[in-house]
Amino acid sequence: MYRYDEFDRDFVNQRVTQFEDQVRRRMSGELTEDEFKPLRLMNGLYLQLHAYMLRVAIPYGTLNATQMRKLAHIARTYDRGYGHFTTRQNVQFNWPKLSDTPQILRELADVEMHAIQTSGNCIRNVTSDQFAGAAADEFADPRVYAEILRQWSSLHPEFLFLPRKFKIAITGAEQDRAAVQVHDIGLQLTRNEDGEIGFVVFVGGGLGRTPMVGRKVRDFLPENDLLAYSEAILRVYNRYGRRDNKYKARIKILVHETGLEELKQDIETEFEATKNGILNLPNEEVVRINEYFAPPSFDALPKISTELEAAKREDRDLALFSSRNLHAHKAEGYTSVTISLKPIGGAPGDATADQMDVIADLAERFGHNELRVTHEQNLVLPHVKLQDVPTVFKILKANDLADSNAGLITDMIACPGLDYCALANARSIPIAQEISKRFEAVKRQNEIGDLKLKISGCINACGHHHVGHIGILGVDRKGEELYQITLGGSADQNTSIGKIIGRGFPEAEITDAVETVVDTYLANRLDEEESFIDAYRRLGDQPFKDALYGA
Ligand code: HEM
Ligand code: SF4
Repeated sequence: MYRYDEFDRDFVNQRVTQFEDQVRRRMSGELTEDEFKPLRLMNGLYLQLHAYMLRVAIPYGTLNATQMRKLAHIARTYDRGYGHFTTRQNVQFNWPKLSDTPQILRELADVEMHAIQTSGNCIRNVTSDQFAGAAADEFADPRVYAEILRQWSSLHPEFLFLPRKFKIAITGAEQDRAAVQVHDIGLQLTRNEDGEIGFVVFVGGGLGRTPMVGRKVRDFLPENDLLAYSEAILRVYNRYGRRDNKYKARIKILVHETGLEELKQDIETEFEATKNGILNLPNEEVVRINEYFAPPSFDALPKISTELEAAKREDRDLALFSSRNLHAHKAEGYTSVTISLKPIGGAPGDATADQMDVIADLAERFGHNELRVTHEQNLVLPHVKLQDVPTVFKILKANDLADSNAGLITDMIACPGLDYCALANARSIPIAQEISKRFEAVKRQNEIGDLKLKISGCINACGHHHVGHIGILGVDRKGEELYQITLGGSADQNTSIGKIIGRGFPEAEITDAVETVVDTYLANRLDEEESFIDAYRRLGDQPFKDALYGA
């Protein structure tokens, strides 16, 4: 876990004091909303369709029980009893009163949390693998580098007014669970032939109205060049990124318009000038930060827990939960437990204050006081003994948190859409709820297997529809809400942007259309082992088009 020093604590508290005064001046009418806007955006406070929304940073999705309890307390005391976990591993409160926001930030500062750089044209929360430090397929812990990048990018004086927001993601495992190729900078930890640690670097990935897969600019960036190289990329972007048109301001457009080779050259020139300066990352610093993330002291346990295996034989629900929501851990006898925030008919990513308290208790009792937020809007207990899974499951079940749907069709991402968002063309949450109800049957969901369905209420793509195996995009056609389907997107190590399959469907028909797509897959797959995305890649879109629109 990251650690605050005296400087961090002082700084965050000073920020709260300044914000208190800014809110006071807004409330007294001394500041207009327009004057207040840049000030509130420095502190994660957005204005949505009906109310203010506060986005709180959760560094690389990691938090402890005390912090989770504080989020529960805020949801209960200052909001409507729930919080919303987001695709960038943060949490949002949708209904805070403006007058309460300084106090909320004050209370967050008590537990080393804040909302700085969660909005605006700056470097945002660095995101990572939710199973970091735990996953069996990991070869280096990405949190160490995410933390180094966080320290470098927090209040970096040169990069607080970039042409547009800037997002960095990092993964250290074979399976990319952090969607690095759809970020402005994507980092994949790797080792060279001498066994030294470094990074594959991608630049210019992104979603929004012009989706692009990141382009590789380095096959191997040595560990100690991480900051100098990142700084070089940011400098080139800050200097040449477009400021004349906000729709063309992201680095992906710069990559596209300049050409990869020329841009790479610009980055390398900048890098040459700075690489041996103060940004060179000394080994001692990496070692020091590594200590923050030292693994908890795991007990020596057998690889297979006889207790869990026996309990699974007795309880089919537990067996199902174990087959979907447990992830292989690097320590024998341990597992990572995904807590689904996708109950059938619920709003994806929402958790009530009571649920947050329960989850905090579980982290303390069974999970070495650690919790993670996933970019798919779920929560994770990263280090749980296999033998404790039956008890954890029982407690989750008693609190409506035991949906065994991790990675299945009902485990979908959806943006807030027209229910909250002023930019929306269409509603997202009701569509997610209807699809989830249609596919409620557990047996059917498991028969369909791994399937990522993602829904956005407009082209800004907060719901990642471009990289859903099935994506749904809300569009407005002459006042009517229509939903367009894209197929074949993916955000893992084989990232691809989905293809629009044809004309959109009205709300009354979109769930049927999704069902038609799923049935077409089931009828055409080679066998149960062939996943939706593999089948789509083999078949192309024709069978799906024929089924949806007639041959
Ligand atoms: C309701 C208020 C929201 C507004 C007004 C809003 C606005 C936007 C806009 C304008 C973009 C496009 C930016 C660009 O391409 O340069 C965007 C992208 C994005 N937003 Fe939101 N958003 C909202 C809520 C959310 C929520 C709740 C989440 C997470 C669950 C989210 C996650 C994202 C992500 C992941 C992207 C896109 C990817 C990228 O940057 O390439 N947004 N948002
Ligand atoms: S995708 Fe559009 S509708 Fe959905 S939250 Fe983002 S801006 Fe709003």
